[in-house]
Amino acid sequence: MNDPRENLSQAARQLLAIEELLGSAFLPASRNPLPPAAASTAQPARPATKTPASAFVPAGPALLGAGLSPKKRAEALEAIDVNEVRGCTRCGLSQGRTQTVFGEGDPCAPLVFVGEGPGQEEDRTGRPFVGRAGELLSKMIAAMGLTRQQVFIVNMVKCRPPDNRTPLPNEVAACFGYLLRQLQIIAPKVIVTLGNPATKGLLGPDTEGITRIRGVWKSLPTLAEGLGGIPVMPTFHPAYVLRYYTPAVREQVWSDLQQVMTRLGLSTPTADPQ
Ligand code: URA
Ligand code: SF4
Repeated sequence: MNDPRENLSQAARQLLAIEELLGSAFLPASRNPLPPAAASTAQPARPATKTPASAFVPAGPALLGAGLSPKKRAEALEAIDVNEVRGCTRCGLSQGRTQTVFGEGDPCAPLVFVGEGPGQEEDRTGRPFVGRAGELLSKMIAAMGLTRQQVFIVNMVKCRPPDNRTPLPNEVAACFGYLLRQLQIIAPKVIVTLGNPATKGLLGPDTEGITRIRGVWKSLPTLAEGLGGIPVMPTFHPAYVLRYYTPAVREQVWSDLQQVMTRLGLSTPTADPQ
């Protein structure tokens, strides 16, 4: 069956995605395709992920993507995936995985989303953010007027942690080099970190918690050649948004994404006047 949205203009689709993201705050409940808001606003207790930048030991010379053709960048990413990540046993997460989840998207994407680690659906399919949280991330991307193919989506660790627990510091450290090399090749203009593990993993373990730091532009430390100074926007992880599904949380995420859109020169379409 055809998705009726295919007949809509790009602007109309984007507006619908914004409405979906913001849900009942902007839409009558009867038209809101998302489930109703959860009552609780309590913070989940999650251990912090400490990733000393010094734990990263680059393997071989840095390959910087800026100036390389899209084809070269795609090949470079593919080589890391096929030759290194798929057979990787650098940490214990290799033992529980069905397959690795390298990440996907445009090898020249101006915008990279960094999540935590694969969940069950991701482990099954080999693709990042394809479960429930992934559906919400797709909506966030659509609300920005972009498609998943136009951005790059990646995780701190490429293998699923057992029971979807937060990856341990040693696991993040073991996997960190792959992420940094992906970022070097993609050379994004902006990185959005989704939740605490990605934010602390990239900005440092002493970074404030996500509820305080979200919405505040940060600058990527020089974790590896070419990466220093990339603007980072921390925001809530979509799984957190699903869990604490309040208009306030959704509006905060949308406000963070709008800051990213402004930085990338993307506009929010205005509603059709008629
Ligand atoms: N959560 C993540 O952080 N990453 C995924 O790929 C899926 C869910
Ligand atoms: Fe290797 Fe990363 Fe998987 Fe650990 S999580 S086994 S470091 S690919």
